[in-house]
Amino acid sequence: MCGIIGYIGSKQALNILISGLSKLEYRGYDSAGIGIITNHKIKIIKNKGELTNLINKLGDQKITGNLGIGHTRWATHGAPSSLNAHPHISQNGKIAIIHNGIIENYLSLKKELESKGYKFKTETDSEVIANLLEYYQHSNFLISIQKTVKRLKGSFALGIINENYPDTLYAVRNESPLIVGTTSNEQFIASDIPAIINWTKEIYYLDNLEIAVLTKNQIKFYNIKLQEIQKYLSKITWDNEEAAKHGYKHFMIKEIFEQRKAIANTINPRIKNNMPLLDINITKQELNNVNKIYVIACGTSYYAGLNAKPLMEQLLNITTEVDLASEFRYRQPLIDNNSLVIIISQSGETADTLAALRLAKEKNAKTIAIVNVVGSTIAREADQTIYTWAGPEIAVASTKAYTTQLAIIYLLTIKLANLKGKVKKKELINLVKTLQLIPDQVNEILTQNEKIRALANEFYKEQDIYFIGRNIDYYTALEGALKLKEISYIHAEAYAAGELKHGTIALIEEGTLVVSLCTNKELYPKMINNIKEITARGAKTLVITNNKDEVGDYHIFIPPTNPYFNSILSVIPLQLFAYHMANNRNCNIDKPKNLAKSVTVE
Ligand code: F6R
Repeated sequence: MCGIIGYIGSKQALNILISGLSKLEYRGYDSAGIGIITNHKIKIIKNKGELTNLINKLGDQKITGNLGIGHTRWATHGAPSSLNAHPHISQNGKIAIIHNGIIENYLSLKKELESKGYKFKTETDSEVIANLLEYYQHSNFLISIQKTVKRLKGSFALGIINENYPDTLYAVRNESPLIVGTTSNEQFIASDIPAIINWTKEIYYLDNLEIAVLTKNQIKFYNIKLQEIQKYLSKITWDNEEAAKHGYKHFMIKEIFEQRKAIANTINPRIKNNMPLLDINITKQELNNVNKIYVIACGTSYYAGLNAKPLMEQLLNITTEVDLASEFRYRQPLIDNNSLVIIISQSGETADTLAALRLAKEKNAKTIAIVNVVGSTIAREADQTIYTWAGPEIAVASTKAYTTQLAIIYLLTIKLANLKGKVKKKELINLVKTLQLIPDQVNEILTQNEKIRALANEFYKEQDIYFIGRNIDYYTALEGALKLKEISYIHAEAYAAGELKHGTIALIEEGTLVVSLCTNKELYPKMINNIKEITARGAKTLVITNNKDEVGDYHIFIPPTNPYFNSILSVIPLQLFAYHMANNRNCNIDKPKNLAKSVTVE
């Protein structure tokens, strides 16, 4: 949550900050602001609402200066308002900060500073940081930063400017992500790569409690003891082309249509001689010692993770539990060095998922992360990481990240099954061959876009929609309902179809729309019964199926695949349905209200 950017160099900072913020709006968009050192003074402009409101407020003002910071906010402490927007300035007006994260002890720090005469202007937790920096002022500003950071509890990525050092940008982080970009004559800080990739592809990833000191021509890094440290320079291999809309109305629909390529990129280079080729080091002995697998994630990544259970239990014969990270971390799970913990996260920064990973490591479990954002904290902290090569996902609602997570779950399970040797190799090879058909099958489903748009035209005024399915179809139903509610704001719920008559059927009445997933042949007769029970009560049913027996009112057909892989296909029509429903309702599809792409707070 919240996006930060900072610049020092020979260009005008303002243009770079605004351009960078436009790439960070997915992290929060309830207010935005910039702070620039102009004529030796800090000038701050901020405004409530999306970045365009800040741009309108700036109007023709030319705030000149080569050093500046910018912020786009997702409110945690204090309402979204111009006053609470960042940057925040210290009492004497000489130090300005931008902050992503939460300062958990801000109330006690605020009280302490108030007792020393400091007056606070905002409701935020972040303002204490600016005032602490002033309170600890020292002829060496690094010492002020060190003393301030030592007082902070919680998460923070900070960009700091100080009128006394008009040629230096400071940055420090703990838990919240922060990268430093470099060229020979200009330097950047940012929450994420797209914000600065137009200017540099050379990146340092700041680790917890490391401080970066950036001047026009150089960067120095320090640990919290203020000893200078050397950091590894990474090179980014993708560019902003991949993050532009390319004529699509929204990033979400572009990303839905990119799925053929994203899945192909994720699986094709990882298959050799009909077997998965994943860079995962685990010996047969280590795998035989694993007595339990935990799959941990949040939101859509969790729904992808649910698919691991049937697959891993059947092919590996190991009990597999799938848990929400926010629950797992507080339920004292029984993990030990015989547990394998698989962490799934698109962003690699989700606070609860990261905490779950750390808990698993503390308990000596083996950890494997499935992550999309290269170099993210989870990717770096897990024992081993497998990247989904989905490319940057900009829309807040996850689509191609989800399907590529599924692709990795399938590949990883087949790889481990081959190592374990309980399933015949021929069977595994057949699974791999079936998996290789998926990208083209995804395309085949995408050709039904117009049909799905027409269905959305018919249903977009619905108030409540139910999704049902059994086994893997139930997991897809959960994801379909989440997609619909998060972008269209229509109330949507998913149920295991067998559970319907244990209560929820009371809500089914004349005209209610029920989306039914029927992709498992063995369970098809059971689903037909459920659909009949629903239609008998006057409901309309939209059936997503690979079976040509037409039961229900409306149908979307998907190609047949191995039952383990059904989700990766059946979710595509649900993504398109959610998209067109939201589009008909004129929703802000790429930036749904109250949501952010990267949930770096609990
Ligand atoms: C929904 C969505 C979220 C994320 C969740 C976890 O479309 O995108 O539910 O899946 O916030 O995020 P990551 O995968 O980045 O850990």
